[in-house]
Amino acid sequence: MSAAEVLTKAPPVALVIFGASGDLTARKILPALAKLADRGTLDNGFTVVGVARTEWTDDEFRAAVHQATPDAGTRWHSLVDRFTYVTGEYTHPDTFDALRTKLADADRQDGTAGNRLFYLATIPSMFGLVAKAVADHGCNKPGPGGSFARLVVEKPYGRDLRSALELDDQVHSAFDESDVYRIDHYMGKETVQNVIALRFANAIFEPIWNRRYVEEVQITVAESLGVEHRGGFYETAGALRDIVQNHVMQVLALTLMEAPTSMDADRIRDEKVKLLQAVDIPTPDEAVDKMVRGQYTAGAIGGEAVVGYRSEPDVAPDSMTETFVALRLRVENWRWAGVPIYIRTGKRLPARVTEVALRFHQVPFLLFDKKASRDLRPNALILRIQPDEGITLEFGAKLPGEAFSVRSVAMDFAYSQAFAGVEAADGYERLLHDAMVGDPTLFIRSDEVRQAWRIVDPYLEAWADSPTGLHPYAAGTWGPHMADLLVERTGDAWRNPALDVRPLG
Ligand code: BG6
Repeated sequence: MSAAEVLTKAPPVALVIFGASGDLTARKILPALAKLADRGTLDNGFTVVGVARTEWTDDEFRAAVHQATPDAGTRWHSLVDRFTYVTGEYTHPDTFDALRTKLADADRQDGTAGNRLFYLATIPSMFGLVAKAVADHGCNKPGPGGSFARLVVEKPYGRDLRSALELDDQVHSAFDESDVYRIDHYMGKETVQNVIALRFANAIFEPIWNRRYVEEVQITVAESLGVEHRGGFYETAGALRDIVQNHVMQVLALTLMEAPTSMDADRIRDEKVKLLQAVDIPTPDEAVDKMVRGQYTAGAIGGEAVVGYRSEPDVAPDSMTETFVALRLRVENWRWAGVPIYIRTGKRLPARVTEVALRFHQVPFLLFDKKASRDLRPNALILRIQPDEGITLEFGAKLPGEAFSVRSVAMDFAYSQAFAGVEAADGYERLLHDAMVGDPTLFIRSDEVRQAWRIVDPYLEAWADSPTGLHPYAAGTWGPHMADLLVERTGDAWRNPALDVRPLG
């Protein structure tokens, strides 16, 4: 089965990309569109109108598109010949007059049928202004004969709750919430969606999915890459804003929420919001005790020497931006009260791993000799989101032999084996497709974004008040030692994704 069969055909549409000459467009949006085109998912009435400040002609834009999609097939490359481009300031009336003309031309010549999808891939500070300018120039409605005009907004959606509320005001003055599609590319990942399948397609997990059986939850989003060429952006963000407020909160909500009453977009999003509303919000003073921030120094990844964060391009030599953060949260509801939720994310960690691990209680009484069972750990269920997507159940087994020695072993499920031959769409493909067909399930609703900011704001405030607690860690290690202490305070330890699942032997 190919992704063409997995995804339904999209309707005709003109996709307007603001930030068309930027990095995100070249690295993520265009390659995803090219795949959709080559799999036959895009309609013949599809085109792109690029908008950016870079002075390009239509031909120069097309050349840049071809360059960004070198592996694409003929379907895509023949579509690209019709793409057009508007050079201009994002809020200048001339830009939008030109855009209106291009959209009318596209309806007439390319069969885009009056449908519009506006994609905000500019620098985040322009999101609200561009949305408003789209509306001020009458582009926030479908063209003649069209049935939709939607706005896709990239992350980060605001820098804190206050700015997210301001952005929402601007966006809502231009588009109805039902036409706003806030992207979090983690929601486009098959394995993130599979958390829903694991939990709600199986009867055996629900009875143990709560405080009576679960001792703690750990969510890890580890990257071995550094900030690459995005130092300038990262300096304004840091790990808490870049990963925790969005990707981690989404994974947390899907893992811990109650069962929705249906797969309807709003029923799922209602449950996610309810879960986020139950996450404890400390005062900034309390937050200090529940978080650890770190910044990588020079070290080695996979045997190769790498520079420290402060030596990366576009990073201040005395930067206080965190590239690692660990938090201890609580979810205050009947299901999860008292269960510590540990979160950590960082760049330049030893491996690229995203996983959720539920560790279950110890057995009430251990029958076996302590020494002979020292390698027995409590049961754990690990949802491996990337890179080797799957599910692992750790449980105790007897080592062969006369002595009754028990140790933990792992039972593994790998998506790549179970669904060999099924080529799933990647995150951006899936989300672009869903925005075109009008399915908002995997996009972030306004109240979800706000609640996620409410949760992280106290940590940001605590940090702003006292920016000294930034702990260095060498690239290639699992973060600062202080992060271990955060977990050890409740008698636990971080899982080591590289070591904890060991083959028997
Ligand atoms: C992005 C962050 O949202 O997610 C990046 O801005 C990060 O800093 C990336 O590298 C990680 O995504 P993935 O899909 O590689 O886990």
